Amino acid sequence: MTSEKIQRVGVIGAGIMGAGIAEVCARAHVDVLVFEQTRELAAAGRARILRSLDRGVSSGKITEREREQAAWRLRFTSDLGDFADRQLVVEAVVEDEKVKSEILAELDKIVTDPNAVLASNTSSIPIMKLGIATGAPERVIGMHFFNPVPVLPLVELVTTLKTSPTVAERAEAFAADVLGKQVVRSSDRAGFIANALLVPYLLSAIRMVESGFATKEDIDKTMVLGCAHPMGPLALTDLVGLDTVKSIADSMYEEFKEPLYSAPPLLQRMVEAGLVGKKSGAGFYEYA
Ligand code: CAA
Ligand code: NAD
Repeated sequence: MTSEKIQRVGVIGAGIMGAGIAEVCARAHVDVLVFEQTRELAAAGRARILRSLDRGVSSGKITEREREQAAWRLRFTSDLGDFADRQLVVEAVVEDEKVKSEILAELDKIVTDPNAVLASNTSSIPIMKLGIATGAPERVIGMHFFNPVPVLPLVELVTTLKTSPTVAERAEAFAADVLGKQVVRSSDRAGFIANALLVPYLLSAIRMVESGFATKEDIDKTMVLGCAHPMGPLALTDLVGLDTVKSIADSMYEEFKEPLYSAPPLLQRMVEAGLVGKKSGAGFYEYA
């Protein structure tokens, strides 16, 4: 049971991250069941994955046959009860502790394999909080993928004081051996390694725009051309989603009470206005 290879994966949510995680699993020959709240959202999630698979073909990363086979391995449902036979479920819903806790608690009742991995792709919420809320913290682990998932080769693995070693080994083996990702381990602190470093930088860039220190274009250009980043901080905030960046800042601020983690008013106003970035068509920049 312990070493049984993971072949049946569930992904909860088909937004930016859920779609990416489902795609890389399907491309790795794994059977993937994806949950979305409604048929319309499921159709949008499937379309998002198919567009990305097309991009994989057009850039020579996968063949047309691999795209077809990956698409066949993906099924969608709006019934969490369908996840009973999954060996790994990765929750990738909105960065909200209550929503994630409710879903994980429900999954704990449904998924039958006692060694199944219940993973959260949370960017920042301490995994122990989610584990305790499920009632079975030994099954719960953080598997933090990066955006865009088909392109970025890292998973941050976050175990808690309660995660079982078997669950951690299974999750790590899946990320490394099946998905071919590099794995780093982080302590269970809000923001883990990547966002504890990245998000204060994004918030600083937003504060620079807010104070009129420099234009968004010049800030981004500086980091791309002067520091060799693939994209500037404001374009990156748009890619991640301003709502997600704000939620990450909020959970790190709640944990550490450090001003560098506090969400600047401009970020808050933009989220309230629905200007949440690329996924909504506009954030710091506009998208067709
Ligand atoms: N499938 C397979 N490959 C794909 C692909 C897909 N769906 N989409 C793109 N690619 C490949 C392309 O083929 C290309 O590969 P080569 O370099 O070998 O040709 C490469 O990815 C780059 O793609 P493009 O040339 O189309 O686009 P680009 O050069 O403008 O790069 C980008 C786009 C990958 C987003 C790049 O700008 C980048 O890496 N940006 C930084 C992203 C980043 O920092 N992400 C982390 C966000 S933080 C996070 O995720 C954690 C959190 O909790 C918030
Ligand atoms: P998104 O906005 O693209 O998608 C949100 C998903 O949550 C959708 O599938 C939506 O249907 C679902 N959802 C929203 N409310 C729900 C509810 N009440 N019940 C069930 N499902 C609900 O967000 P995303 O960028 O895919 O982020 C998802 C998770 O991944 C978050 O925890 C985020 O912090 C994390 N993450 C995001 C990034 C990123 O760059 N965007 C990177 C790594 C991790």
